[in-house]
Amino acid sequence: MARIIDIAVDEDIALAEGSTLLLAGELVVMPTETVYGLAADATNPQAIAKIYAAKGRPAFNPLICHMSGLEMAEDYAVFSSLARALADAFWPGPLTLVLPLKQGAAIAPAATANLPTVGVRVPQGFAGRLIAATGRPLAAPSANTSGRISPTTAVHVEADLGEKLRLILDAGPAEVGVESTILKVEDETITLLRPGGISAAEVEALTGRRVARPQHKTAIVAPGMMVSHYAPKAAVRLDATRVEDGEALVLFGPCQVENAAAAHATFQLSAKGDLAEAASRLYDTMIEADLSGATAIAFAPIPKEGIGEAINDRLARAAAPRKDD
Ligand code: TXA
Ligand code: MG
Repeated sequence: MARIIDIAVDEDIALAEGSTLLLAGELVVMPTETVYGLAADATNPQAIAKIYAAKGRPAFNPLICHMSGLEMAEDYAVFSSLARALADAFWPGPLTLVLPLKQGAAIAPAATANLPTVGVRVPQGFAGRLIAATGRPLAAPSANTSGRISPTTAVHVEADLGEKLRLILDAGPAEVGVESTILKVEDETITLLRPGGISAAEVEALTGRRVARPQHKTAIVAPGMMVSHYAPKAAVRLDATRVEDGEALVLFGPCQVENAAAAHATFQLSAKGDLAEAASRLYDTMIEADLSGATAIAFAPIPKEGIGEAINDRLARAAAPRKDD
């Protein structure tokens, strides 16, 4: 059973115990502003192997390496002036940059799945302080079994992976609620590998460049973007305008849904129709709707602009046909 330390009660103990375990090559659950991460010392191959084992994650799917700041990130990745401009504008924050791995960088090859690139991100708040206390880059995928919904609370992590873990650091519900935006920056080209907490429009406004979308959405450009992902146990139905008997209904703002009274359970992502609020509640709502015992989860339409792109991306993956079911 995992021990849970509430950082609001004693942050110093959380930092001390977390960094001690990380430096000993153990896994620690690290809260970030996006989702909870399963962290390990990115320079320690045995520690990285524990991440893949605990998640049941395929070895070809690389991990994001979390840094305490741009200075630490520059020890491991090569920054062009465009990459540096993005880092200056959005770090610390929900942005991952996929950049060339620096020659001789001490990152364990398994952390990058042997790619010549590395995904780097500087998280906000407590996670940044944990990395600084540890003094190492921390590889951290979302702290869930591979293919399942990412956790936004310590309770989600405990329910999924608690048996396999020693320490969960609890910072309350994650603020952003969907994972970081992943951009691949090559020369003067920016490619959106995964929509997330920072919108493509914000990136375009800052850089004055168009953000390219990958041609083949299922290619291994970002293996975590495998089509079926973020999947609850119940089937997921998108853009629902009518509820079928036995389905849970998830609303966004005031909306007209036929047969709504017949819903098995009803949830509201944001009564005022705020996309950021909807993102922060998305995964918890999916988990609750699943626990309600509904046969399927019907989502009312959600606008695709801003962080709505990330919400719709995750819902499409949750609704995709599942290989192993
Ligand atoms: O918000 C987040 O990004 C969270 C928190 C914990 O920081 N982390 C997260 O990690 O979502 P994960 O492992 O669930 O997703 C990482 C994604 C995967 O889709 C992976 O394929 C992609 O990042 N990725 C990592 N390194 C890459 C690389 N070198 N090239 C392409 N994709 C990469
Ligand atoms: Mg994940």
